[in-house]
Amino acid sequence: MSSHSSPIPMTSSACGPLSGRADVPGDKSISHRALILGAMCVGETTISGLLEGQDVLDTARAMRAFGAEVSDLGGGRWSVHGVGVGGFAEPENVIDCGNSGTGVRLIMGAMASSPITATFTGDASLNGRPMARVTGPLALFGAQAVGRAGGRLPMTIVGAREPVPVRYVVPMPSAQVKSAVLLAGLNAPGKTVVIEAEATRDHTERMLAGFGAEISVEETEEGRVITLTGQPELRAQHIDVPRDPSSAAFPVCAALIVPGSDVLVPGIGLNPTRAGLFTTLREMGADLTYENERLEGGEPVADLRARFSPEMRGIEVPPERAASMIDEYPVLSIVAAFAQGTTMMRGVKELRVKESDRIDAMATGLRANGVSVEEGPDWWSVAGLGAGGVPGGGLCASHLDHRIAMSFLILGMAAQQPVRVDDGGPIATSFPIFEPLMAELGAQVSREVS
Ligand code: S3P
Repeated sequence: MSSHSSPIPMTSSACGPLSGRADVPGDKSISHRALILGAMCVGETTISGLLEGQDVLDTARAMRAFGAEVSDLGGGRWSVHGVGVGGFAEPENVIDCGNSGTGVRLIMGAMASSPITATFTGDASLNGRPMARVTGPLALFGAQAVGRAGGRLPMTIVGAREPVPVRYVVPMPSAQVKSAVLLAGLNAPGKTVVIEAEATRDHTERMLAGFGAEISVEETEEGRVITLTGQPELRAQHIDVPRDPSSAAFPVCAALIVPGSDVLVPGIGLNPTRAGLFTTLREMGADLTYENERLEGGEPVADLRARFSPEMRGIEVPPERAASMIDEYPVLSIVAAFAQGTTMMRGVKELRVKESDRIDAMATGLRANGVSVEEGPDWWSVAGLGAGGVPGGGLCASHLDHRIAMSFLILGMAAQQPVRVDDGGPIATSFPIFEPLMAELGAQVSREVS
């Protein structure tokens, strides 16, 4: 998102049953990786189902700045003519990654082992997020970083002239950090080893293998040990991007709380490193079924069917599940508000350094709508009011965070009074068709005209 666009206040009101089919867009994580890896091999990579949200468009523009030819062929089909591992050109201008932590962190990794310099910036949200978690391991390859206080953007990375392979234990559950190190390892001679104590989304590992890199994953007592052999000749690919489970979460959760709803969300990627929300909802008693389970492009996929579920119960979400649903806690907290009893979410410190401090943003907005929330540094809990029990009527700040904006609009669909969001603009980063898609199902979401 541009940091200069004016806010788009939005309101969502109680609606009749949601019904029909919700074709959500392509997976954001996989879309970023497809463009970046496509740019790092010689030849043409074609992509279908690419998410054409602002975050991914910003990554496409960045790949052009590093010398790749990236073309929109129409209808979600894209083509990337890459420059090969180590072939990035030095960008002529500052790289603006907008709102995207994934975009900036993965691209920093991809360029850090090449002898070029690039300066990165973003919007107010991205420029407030910690980057030392990436520049720390990139320094081990020989790259240098100079940024603002606290390791914030704007930041310049001087890539390593003679990169060396590294062995790195990722200190927090972060697929972005893991991926940045692996992408930097591509242009270092020898074996780069990344170890993560808890499994995080593994799209980078899967896609690197698909592009022909030598990569192995071993489960050990230390955690997942990923070994990548550097300087491979990557082979251009066709990539079919599955639909995004993190976007599917919104129509699914809306259907569970709006009386009488029955919604089908087809073709959703259910990679186990991403599907924690759906497991959690089923444990809460949600009427959520997987239909037509299949494999597409090596990823498990199913059609999700969600129906109104008035009997959901609050649960304790196992902390070891956090990485597999880290982006879904905001919308889970909305469902929790309509369940009976308390939902406790522990081991979620990472929520404080997302596009916003998501615990704080959700707690404040839920309270403004009559829901009790308690929080600590790495946990929070929501006291459910049961089906139909949420008063609503509050104004919520989205803090330049798409998932906060969408979560509160879902709240308004089942609350007693309409719910207002100060700025729905950020929704375009990940789910540009959110409004027409939800309207088609029967939701009442409107933009306020000033
Ligand atoms: C992502 C990883 C997660 C997630 C983000 C996308 C990715 O972030 O929250 O939306 O595509 O690698 P962290 O790596 O910071 O956990």
